[in-house]
Amino acid sequence: MQAKFAPSLLAADFSCLTDQVRLVEQYADSLHIDLMDAHFVPTLGIGPQVVESLRPVTNVFFHCHLMIENPQNQFEQLAKGGANLITVHVEAVEDPPAVVAALGELGVQAGLAVNPETPAEAVFPFLDELSDVIVMTVNPGWGGQAFLPEGLPKVEAIRTEIDRRGLACDVEVDGGINEETGRRCVEAGATVISAGSSVFRTPDPAAAARRLAAVAHGEAPR
Ligand code: DX5
Ligand code: ZN
Repeated sequence: MQAKFAPSLLAADFSCLTDQVRLVEQYADSLHIDLMDAHFVPTLGIGPQVVESLRPVTNVFFHCHLMIENPQNQFEQLAKGGANLITVHVEAVEDPPAVVAALGELGVQAGLAVNPETPAEAVFPFLDELSDVIVMTVNPGWGGQAFLPEGLPKVEAIRTEIDRRGLACDVEVDGGINEETGRRCVEAGATVISAGSSVFRTPDPAAAARRLAAVAHGEAPR
């Protein structure tokens, strides 16, 4: 199955975000934007203002990955700021259907993310309403970590359930993705591969993005 490629902004040079987006946007099916609150994860990241500031810069689809507690408090500002898809962690919300409904009212697509220790089945009850499920292939909070292969059977399990029910939901992998791990994830059924360090922490982010997009699109030589 053909997959999509999502550069993850977390590894970009924050002194020149517009330039960084320009380098990768032609290869990006979406831009993966991480928000972190120093509560759900120990680290503190960007907020909705950065999303707002980047919206006029590019037409690329914005996927905001919220690694935060009480994520619903940010929905309105993110929606106004130009988020197209907002993913919250299944571990961070008590009532996922209410979250999905709130996003729907704002005209934003909804996703759920699962941490490495959370079973795939945690998202099964909600798949009908979701546009995307993020399977974390590292512990959330930091870029540059090693890929956790335990994510692969979870990708397979969620993909199988989505297909069995005839749904259109994407399965996205996030963390430690490079050309090799990205290919394994696509083979396991991922339809979006997100990558930060293997794009932006390289000498030529545009070339890295082009190669990762080719892996996602099934066009890369083996
Ligand atoms: C991790 C973030 C990821 C991060 C991945 O908490 O959710 O999106 O950017 O970074 P890499 O690709 O460097 O593992
Ligand atoms: Zn992320």
